[in-house]
Amino acid sequence: MSTAISPTAYNYKVVRQFAIMTVVWGILGMGLGVFIASQLVWPELNFGLPWTSFGRLRPLHTNLVIFAFGGCALFATSYYVVQRTCQTRLISDSLAAFTFWGWQAVIVGAIITLPLGYTTTKEYAELEWPIAILLAIVWVTYGLVFFGTITKRKTKHIYVGNWFYGAFIVVTAMLHIVNHMSLPVSLFKSYSAYSGATDAMIQWWYGHNAVGFFLTTGFLGMMYYFVPKQAERPIYSYRLSIVHFWALITLYIWAGPHHLHYTALPDWAQSLGMAMSIILLAPSWGGMINGMMTLSGAWHKLRTDPILRFLVVSLAFYGMSTFEGPMMAIKTVNSLSHYTDWTIGHVHAGALGWVAMISIGAIYHMIPKLFGRAQMHSTGLINAHFWLATIGTVLYIASMWVNGITQGLMWRAINDDGTLTYSFVEALQASHPGFIVRALGGAFFASGMLLMAYNVYRTVRASDPVEAEAAAKIAVVGAH
Ligand code: HEM
Ligand code: HEM
Repeated sequence: MSTAISPTAYNYKVVRQFAIMTVVWGILGMGLGVFIASQLVWPELNFGLPWTSFGRLRPLHTNLVIFAFGGCALFATSYYVVQRTCQTRLISDSLAAFTFWGWQAVIVGAIITLPLGYTTTKEYAELEWPIAILLAIVWVTYGLVFFGTITKRKTKHIYVGNWFYGAFIVVTAMLHIVNHMSLPVSLFKSYSAYSGATDAMIQWWYGHNAVGFFLTTGFLGMMYYFVPKQAERPIYSYRLSIVHFWALITLYIWAGPHHLHYTALPDWAQSLGMAMSIILLAPSWGGMINGMMTLSGAWHKLRTDPILRFLVVSLAFYGMSTFEGPMMAIKTVNSLSHYTDWTIGHVHAGALGWVAMISIGAIYHMIPKLFGRAQMHSTGLINAHFWLATIGTVLYIASMWVNGITQGLMWRAINDDGTLTYSFVEALQASHPGFIVRALGGAFFASGMLLMAYNVYRTVRASDPVEAEAAAKIAVVGAH
């Protein structure tokens, strides 16, 4: 009997599928990141072709790492967490399967259309209207499966991790649908329903909340389940987690204008965005502290458990990037950082250090459980992966800080007669060593993903279908 049809077992099939695809898309998306980083070092790698040019591959990188890698990690973990904490099977196997195949179809659509140059031109919302509609349908179905499962839970309360996943699902639907309102003029071309400063404001309301709800709130859901599980300790403060939840979702939604400082956006809106961003430091650090303090009395486990290391270091990078972000939102700081590599460094402190590290830790935690194994094939390889990822992230962000501040200072340097001290090309030449270090750091990070793929492959290959089925049996109440 397959686990897919047993009502007394969790639906692990869809979790396994999303978990494996997280690794596959991680390798492709980060591999492409290394490639575009190399193009900035050696422009010959653009090959003089439109399809392989930096301008077309860059959005493919962002779509693959955020939506394919990050998205699959969020689907996999949310389906796992909601079933285990509600002690019930997903409400519908066929709808869950539709979200898996539909999501993969969206990604394949991105891989085909973006290099061909089909784009709405809105960052992180580049996919043209037919793919955007498919994405909206898949997302609404995801919401039905997730919230439907919560309604038939066997437990009394709803675990806080599900609150975060739930907010991430609802807000992402809202952002995607509102920002994508457009008028199609052909099969692959549409024009935004908004114009001018309104269009920019809606786009960055979307863009910032994609960071806030896709790259943060969903992953906090992950944090609230996997950190206590891996540390074998209850969450430090349940009360703090509730305060953290409400404060985070109330504040994030107002911070978007910090992406539009010194633009045609009304000044009061820019100042509001700045103020809200600074206040955001408090709930962000509240969440980080709640995760970190969960390790009280269990710190010694870090010495032997590289999965826990991934989870804890991800929290450290989360704390770092959510300190840096509010600083960059201050208008005077932003006048130096905007347009420079500092922003890119900030992005990847969050993306590699937080999003990728916590996902990797969660996948390593889940894989043996999903396939009925006691542990991963090799702990040594997880440890090697941990160091490659940590060193890679540090090289990436340190080089971008140096580049960003150098660029910002060189661009604003003015001679006594009011002319610019440096030409743009001089600033570019000064950035070249940093580009090399960034490509190297990226290569470290991406090669760690190859170790992960091998380790996952060996663990899955050693899996016994009978044991895997037994692992999917629904445990008694209180034992999640
Ligand atoms: C091996 C790892 C990676 C490498 C080498 C890499 C490299 C790059 C490069 C070269 C750019 C373009 C920078 C520019 O335009 O100057 C970029 C942009 C970006 N990457 Fe990555 N990346 C990696 C992993 C990731 C991951 C895992 C994520 C997300 C989870 C991510 C999210 C982004 C985003 C959001 C941007 C756009 C930033 C902006 O417009 O400000 N990257 N990446
Ligand atoms: C309290 C939390 C945070 C605040 C207040 C914040 C603030 C900022 C600011 C001011 C910028 C620069 C805008 C510009 O000059 O164009 C920025 C860019 C960005 N941040 Fe954050 N940040 C926070 C956390 C994070 C985290 C945790 C991540 C990733 C997981 C992240 C991802 C990004 C991305 C992708 C961009 C680049 C957007 C673009 O221009 O394409 N941020 N953030």
